[in-house]
Amino acid sequence: MKVTLKVGDAAKTPADLLVVNLFEGTTKPGGAAAAIDKATRGQLSAYLKDGDFKGKPNETLLLRPTRGVKARRVLVVGLGKKNRFILDRVRQAAGTAAQAARSLGVTHVVSVLHGVGEDGGGDEDISAAEAAQAIVEGTRLGGYAFSLYKSGKKSDSKPITQLTIVDNDAAKVREIREGARVGSALSDSVVFARDLANRSGSDHPPKYLADEARKMAREVGLRCTIWGPRELARAKMGALLGVARGSRNEPRLIVLEYRCNTKGAQTVCVVGKGITFDSGGISLKPPGKMDEMKFDMSGGAATIALARAMALLKPDVNVVCIVPSAENLPGGNAYKPGDILTSAAGVTIEVLNTDAEGRIVLADGLHHALSFKPDAIVDMATLTGACVVALGSHASGLMTNNAALADRIKASGEATYERVWELPMFEEYADAVKSEVADIKNIGNAGEAGTIAGASFLQKFVGKTPWVHLDIAGTAWTMKKKPYAPRGATGVGVRLLAHTLLNWAPLVHDKADDDDDDAPRRRKPRTRGKGRSNGRLAGRGHATGRRGGR
Ligand code: BES
Ligand code: ZN
Ligand code: ZN
Repeated sequence: MKVTLKVGDAAKTPADLLVVNLFEGTTKPGGAAAAIDKATRGQLSAYLKDGDFKGKPNETLLLRPTRGVKARRVLVVGLGKKNRFILDRVRQAAGTAAQAARSLGVTHVVSVLHGVGEDGGGDEDISAAEAAQAIVEGTRLGGYAFSLYKSGKKSDSKPITQLTIVDNDAAKVREIREGARVGSALSDSVVFARDLANRSGSDHPPKYLADEARKMAREVGLRCTIWGPRELARAKMGALLGVARGSRNEPRLIVLEYRCNTKGAQTVCVVGKGITFDSGGISLKPPGKMDEMKFDMSGGAATIALARAMALLKPDVNVVCIVPSAENLPGGNAYKPGDILTSAAGVTIEVLNTDAEGRIVLADGLHHALSFKPDAIVDMATLTGACVVALGSHASGLMTNNAALADRIKASGEATYERVWELPMFEEYADAVKSEVADIKNIGNAGEAGTIAGASFLQKFVGKTPWVHLDIAGTAWTMKKKPYAPRGATGVGVRLLAHTLLNWAPLVHDKADDDDDDAPRRRKPRTRGKGRSNGRLAGRGHATGRRGGR
């Protein structure tokens, strides 16, 4: 989707579809809406007066203006109440408009800058850059359709190929351009993640994910390392190899490295669960909804897509993206309940349920992350059904060992509207995954805080490194379309973590604490790449510097 900018009067801009907005409770339209009211002989005011159109969030009204307005059609989108206005209303309005454009068959959308300036409804809290970014994201993501498997006509409607943002304030041009650039890079990366996850499960096995990651890395200039069974065995990744045993599709460990130009910059590792299909294994899942388990690699897809966004937007922090990927099937060589696996960390895992496989592959992924000596680790995983029970589809679960890192991600959650909600990690919860025969077991107490049990398991593999675990089980895909997410994979996590990393400031923690006394370790993690000064990493648990809003 090409994004262009036009300085001028929205009413005088020729368009197949011009998108304007209206706040709920407006009685007298202003800005571009006033011109449209005039050009429809007061139709808009009449709709408002009779209550047929109220301006509720994502409510739409399609008008056909006559003289005075150059657009063939005008779509008025509701922004909701002015006193409840947030940036996401802009993203949603753009997404709603994009869906309308697709059903109208319009491929070039012209939009005012919602929320900013006279035509946009004017809100001083929102900058032109933020609004432009949100409009580009909303249009690209709301206009997204996955049509790979539609034969013949391919798709029910044509994709949106161009978006023009029109605004009469020439002073805002640079800001709008910058916002649009960021919005394009991010939403294209989200689309990349959605396209990976939405594929038929058998069409995205671990090797496919790895090949796509390698291809993308070549295109955008990232370092890419892929390990297959031989390298995994050499690294003693018995956890990832164990889960993979039930499938003919070999596992992969995918590593994508973004390096910034600043000497001594911090390193953040992002680890994503890449289970390309989760049947449950020998602890087979019931058939209802098992089809949805093709999305169990969504954390991995978001992690790969995040690496792409980093390469395009170049934040001032090194980002290493790691995806342990396997297929969880009950084949003849499958791992079984009662088995004990030895992870690369040397931690032995008692398997009591082969359906709790995500944490097992992440054990090796997180341990591998430690070899990069990261200043922070974030993992994203469709880890537990319990998280869907707890939070539904409007927030991802967040669990952490570091409040400062968690605060950053919570702030990003608000800014991107990929919201997160924290669950506690009191040390007593860790008792649930203590094993009698091994170092740890892969399930907690049935029916009790399953999401936290999953996080407690993962914590064993990060030592004292500041870490956030995001359980995206309820947010990674949607079965009900949303303003900028049709049914299917949402690509959640890409915009969220990109926001955190684009606003990264050194996270202060004590590296001396990084070795967890409890965790048996076969060998010291290797040091990679450049040497680093730890001089400024004194104290613990406090974030410094820039925060939030971009
Ligand atoms: N991939 C699932 C979690 C999941 C379930 C995500 C439903 C989204 C929707 C995960 O591998 C799993 O099966 N977890 C088990 C863990 C249990 C056996 C401790 C679960 O949640 O039932
Ligand atoms: Zn499972
Ligand atoms: Zn799973």
